[in-house]
Amino acid sequence: MKAVKGCVALITGGAAGIGLQYAKELLRNGLRAVTLADISEERGNRAVDEINKEFGKNRTIFVRTDVTDREQFTEAFESTVNTFNNIDILVNNAGIMNDEVWEREIGINFVGTVIGCLLALDHYIPKYRTKKEGVIVNVASTTGLEVFGALPIYVATKHAVVGLTQSWGSESHYNRTKVRFLTLCPGPTDTTLALDGLDKNLGPAYQDIFKDSQPFVTLQDPKHVAKALTHAIQYGKNGSIWVAEDGKPPYEVVMPPKEKMKKSL
Ligand SMILES: NC(=O)c1ccc[n+]([C@@H]2O[C@H](COP(=O)([O-])OP(=O)(O)OC[C@H]3O[C@@H](n4cnc5c(N)ncnc54)[C@H](O)[C@@H]3O)[C@@H](O)[C@H]2O)c1
Repeated sequence: MKAVKGCVALITGGAAGIGLQYAKELLRNGLRAVTLADISEERGNRAVDEINKEFGKNRTIFVRTDVTDREQFTEAFESTVNTFNNIDILVNNAGIMNDEVWEREIGINFVGTVIGCLLALDHYIPKYRTKKEGVIVNVASTTGLEVFGALPIYVATKHAVVGLTQSWGSESHYNRTKVRFLTLCPGPTDTTLALDGLDKNLGPAYQDIFKDSQPFVTLQDPKHVAKALTHAIQYGKNGSIWVAEDGKPPYEVVMPPKEKMKKSL
């Protein structure tokens, strides 16, 4: 795949779940190397073993990183350029779905994404990219495009990621930075986050809302979301938003201008 071939990527939360599938799918499509930046050392080492077995050695490193910590995030970029000489693609994927610890949730899902974008934009991608253009994919969720009363704070972090990415995805920034911004919005997907997360809310009232609103959710395979990511990187225009849900092909959504959202009297 042209947009990926020979490039180097850094994926946060890349040691497990959808993040690990992003790494493998990008490698399958010609990525030269990938850094897995994840808070879990155990999952990180296991993921490196898996990638070594499937793709051979020297294609990946694990850097223990808490994305809420700017120094650790910087270290992940430093290790990437020291090991692979380049960085072209950042996937801000690390996230939790746990409104019980909502300050931490905002920290990981939103502040971590901001830190990653600032480091990539201001320091690393312009200096170390292989090609003329760099790419930042911020992972939101279909909940970032709608409302879901059972998890208001998780949903808000994902709305924030959509707004952030659209704003940096404007043409004025692209002309300045030559970094393409994409938003990826997965629907419910078969990972630990989805299986455990729905009980992690603000209390019984929120649990009841969940039971009433979404009694049956089908979880798609993470590999499906990974294919959507490579599709978006290959075909997505700067600022575009991509949805991957129900195991179906990804599709693009366009935010309507506010005038079109005006309620008719
Ligand atoms: N699974 C779903 O249904 C679903 C749906 C929509 C969006 N998403 C989003 O996709 C992303 C990945 O989710 P997943 O389902 O693969 O979850 P997951 O729990 O399977 O994997 C998340 C990874 O992030 C890592 N992580 C957690 N906190 C971190 C931190 N502070 N710093 C660095 N790494 C950290 C974890 O160790 C783990 O390896 C998240 O942003 C999530 O909100 C998931």
